[in-house]
Amino acid sequence: MQLTHHARFGGCAAKIGPGDLSSVLCGIDIPENANVIVGLKGFEDAGVYRLSDDLAIVQTVDFFTPVVNDPYWFGKVAAANALSDIYAMGARPITALNIVCFSLKRFGAPVLREILRGGIDTIKESGACLLGGHSVEDEEIKYGLSVTGVIHPRRIVRNEGAQPGDLLVLTKPLGTGILVTAMKGNLVSKETEERLIAVMATLNYRASEVMLSTGAHAATDVTGFGLAGHLKEMIKDALGVEVYADKLPYFPEAALLAESGFFPKGFYSNRDFYTPYVEAETGGFPLDLIFDPQSSGGLLIALGKADIDRFREEASKVSLDFRVIGRFIEEPRGIIRIK
Ligand code: CO
Ligand code: CO
Repeated sequence: MQLTHHARFGGCAAKIGPGDLSSVLCGIDIPENANVIVGLKGFEDAGVYRLSDDLAIVQTVDFFTPVVNDPYWFGKVAAANALSDIYAMGARPITALNIVCFSLKRFGAPVLREILRGGIDTIKESGACLLGGHSVEDEEIKYGLSVTGVIHPRRIVRNEGAQPGDLLVLTKPLGTGILVTAMKGNLVSKETEERLIAVMATLNYRASEVMLSTGAHAATDVTGFGLAGHLKEMIKDALGVEVYADKLPYFPEAALLAESGFFPKGFYSNRDFYTPYVEAETGGFPLDLIFDPQSSGGLLIALGKADIDRFREEASKVSLDFRVIGRFIEEPRGIIRIK
């Protein structure tokens, strides 16, 4: 998932997000296979294919245009973002391939080298191996990864599966879309910029481990469709969710920019698309935050109410920051209620 040009191929199901390309596939025959556990349907973070009764591979691909000016850190953020879909499914990444769109003539080899060095450092941190990649000549820089992970077929954490009464947990602060855009115009303080880059480059590895060890019911990562869009994928039309506006974690400087009406383009398409599914008593900030497209955002986890103490304990062991930002409810179905 990504900030701009976000598109996904979701089969012929109902349109679930702005830029959704599922209708393009309508009428095209996609071969079925009994070993496909997670395929085009359901808008999951990654695909899952069963190799044997106790082993499945999880595959995803993600690349985007630079979100930070420093090429090394762009490489790190892009790699963390690509790996995130593997972690959101509860899988372990094992191999990665570079995807590179770059013009050597225009930007020079040292810039590409730095992007790739950043990517490799993050791949190393994840424990996966880099096996190769592919590059095309492009006037606009893009970088990302195709990642393969492994998982036990019965331990897959999907985006659906939350139960009424489950708590909603978020593991990274919101507002990265606003800040990434503002950073390009040098509108962000050095201090916030450093924190933002560190947050985006942080792997969702620890969040995934804690989620697995506490038996989370469902999870996804917050990316281009913002909190509202990815929450909608979790509830679909099966249940509802309450979000406590005063519990939402965010970058303070993003709040200031939002108050002055500074939003990225993706914010508006998210807001237009998801507003019909949102019930809120007031507008403005912090409601705006739920539509902000995120780059390399945190995990959004549905956790049984009884498991929260253990989650807190496991999270503190690995210094994972998180917030309980809401809870799933039975009615109204398909609606995100902001309180
Ligand atoms: Co993705
Ligand atoms: Co995702």
